[in-house]
Formats: sequence, structure tokens, C-alpha cells
Amino acid sequence: MVIKKIAILFSGTGSNLEKLLADLHHKTFQHCRIEVATTICNRPDAQGIEKSRRYGIEPLILDHTQYANREAFDEALVHAIRASGAELTVLAGFMRLLTPVFTQNIKALNLHPSLLPLFKGGNAIKESFDSPMKVAGISVHYVNEELDGGEIIAQRCFEKTEGMSFEAFEAKIHALEHELLPLTVKNLLDRTYHES
Ligand code: GRF
Repeated sequence: MVIKKIAILFSGTGSNLEKLLADLHHKTFQHCRIEVATTICNRPDAQGIEKSRRYGIEPLILDHTQYANREAFDEALVHAIRASGAELTVLAGFMRLLTPVFTQNIKALNLHPSLLPLFKGGNAIKESFDSPMKVAGISVHYVNEELDGGEIIAQRCFEKTEGMSFEAFEAKIHALEHELLPLTVKNLLDRTYHES
């Protein structure tokens, strides 16, 4: 059985990190077994740290404030991911802009709470809630130099119901994220061949 290693990067609550660990870590699928080789967090106070520990993985804390610039931080990320042996990196609520030092060296995908290419950036949920659109959704995409701009891999959408509260809207976004992210990672890895 082929073992496929992944790295998960997070910054905050870590609900998507937790779902990835629950659904994929040490799990055997049709063509592979998935191992979470490392979890990396840039905030020493992130709630996700405890969630990772519950799955027996001590997160590597790389506090971005301790690095001279973005490139130096990204170098540390690249080094840690390579050392873990991960072939795919998942950004699960990782709130840092990444430079080419990262994007040109690491194959990574990101979760974004809107139907890209609409509502890029850090305020996506609010912007999509406030928009006149009748549907909303989430995206999983490859990471490149452009913020939330890489090739889209998978999306899910839903209809905004009349009078839907912001809280209900946000909860729907997160529920879809928890479903789609592990499924997309599994689908990318559990194949008999690899696109280069
Ligand atoms: C998610 O909504 C994700 O789309 C965004 O950050 C949030 C992370 O939530 N990039 P969590 O830390 O996984 O709970």
C-alpha cells in the first residue's frame, strides 16, 4: 500500500484541520494510505494546536513575527514541509500571504469561503453574504502567487434563503468546508497515477 504524506498549515480555530485529521490521518483508501506528516501553525495561541495534539501530532509553531520578512518565514515553511516528506500541503485556515519562495517550491491547496473567482481575500464570507447574489459557496484551489487566484479544484454552492441570518450563512459555509476539503484531498491522493 502506497503511503501519501500531507502537511496541514493553520492559523486559528482549526476546525478544518480537525476534520482533515479525523477523516484522513492513518486512513486507508482504495489506492493509498494517508498520513499527516506534520501540522504547522504560525500563531502560538491558536486553538487548533490543541486539536492537533488530540490526534497525537505536536504542531510545529513557526511564529511569523519572529522572521525578518515574508521570504524568510516562507523559507522556514518550505524547509519544514520538505523535512516532513509531505507531497501535498493543505492550507486549512492559514492566514498568511505567501511569496514565490513558497509557491514555487511547494505543491499546496487552499480552502476559501467563497465561489472563486468572486470575493477573494480575507472578508469573503461577509462580502458574499452582503452581495445581491442568490447563491454562495466555497472553493478548494491550488496555491499560486496570486492571492486566492490558483486553479480551482472543487467547489460547493448553496442557495441563500430569504431572510437567512449571517450566523446561519456562516454555519452553512463551514459545514460545506468540512465536507469538501477532506474529500478533495482524498480524491487528489487516492489515484493510481499522478499528473506532474
Ligand atoms: C475557513 O473559513 C477557511 O475558508 C478560511 O479560514 C477559515 C478557517 O477556519 N480560509 P478553521 O480554522 O478551519 O476553523
